[in-house]
Amino acid sequence: MTLLPVVPRRHLLSETYIVALTFRIRTTDATRRRLDRGRALRLLILPMSRADIIGGRNMSDDFVLDVQKIRQQARAKMAEGPVTDTYGKDKNRVIEILNDVIATEVVCWLRYTRHAISAVGVDRAQVAAEFTEHAKEEMNHALRAAQRVSQLGGEPDFDPAKLVQRAHTDYTAPADHDLTQMLRDNLEAERIVIDIYQEIILWLGEGDPTTRRLMESIKEEEEDHADDLLDLLGG
Ligand SMILES: [Fe+2]
Ligand SMILES: [Fe+2]
Repeated sequence: MTLLPVVPRRHLLSETYIVALTFRIRTTDATRRRLDRGRALRLLILPMSRADIIGGRNMSDDFVLDVQKIRQQARAKMAEGPVTDTYGKDKNRVIEILNDVIATEVVCWLRYTRHAISAVGVDRAQVAAEFTEHAKEEMNHALRAAQRVSQLGGEPDFDPAKLVQRAHTDYTAPADHDLTQMLRDNLEAERIVIDIYQEIILWLGEGDPTTRRLMESIKEEEEDHADDLLDLLGG
């Protein structure tokens, strides 16, 4: 006797249960006798979706590809580059958002650079070194966002005339001796971008995992920046 339980395709409604009594039995007198006595039954209690029960669909969980269809789609829109029919977001909106990220990062680079150069006082060396390192990383963020815009078929926007309107953070220039204010301005900016990038990451979700991973990686560095600044502020 071979026991083959029916395994549900997926468990959509965990509160829905059925008792599956599914056996494939090569009947022999001996097995029949055992069944008659009810000793061979096994009760398999399995979570199963209502759709599976009602629809009686194929319950296999196979990964199936229609390679022919995918090949046709790939050839049909070659000019779209890496953006295929499986791209799950509004591409133009993603490009717009990334261009705002570029503007934000460039403004952050300008602010950190200005602070690094102008800072004076006994703590200058340590604070300026931190600002310089952050500035370098902010510019790198801008470049990575720009590369993604280009991959998506958009135009990276570095137009200085529009930077201030599109940036999510402000350019500030405290007095040269006021290192505390510089640190506070930069910490505030980091906290703003962390929140905004988190919103972007959530919005991108599974629709554009490549851009989402880019933003996750940038956000991770912004969190490091915020942590460094807080340390320097003595927080
Ligand atoms: Fe950044
Ligand atoms: Fe940063």
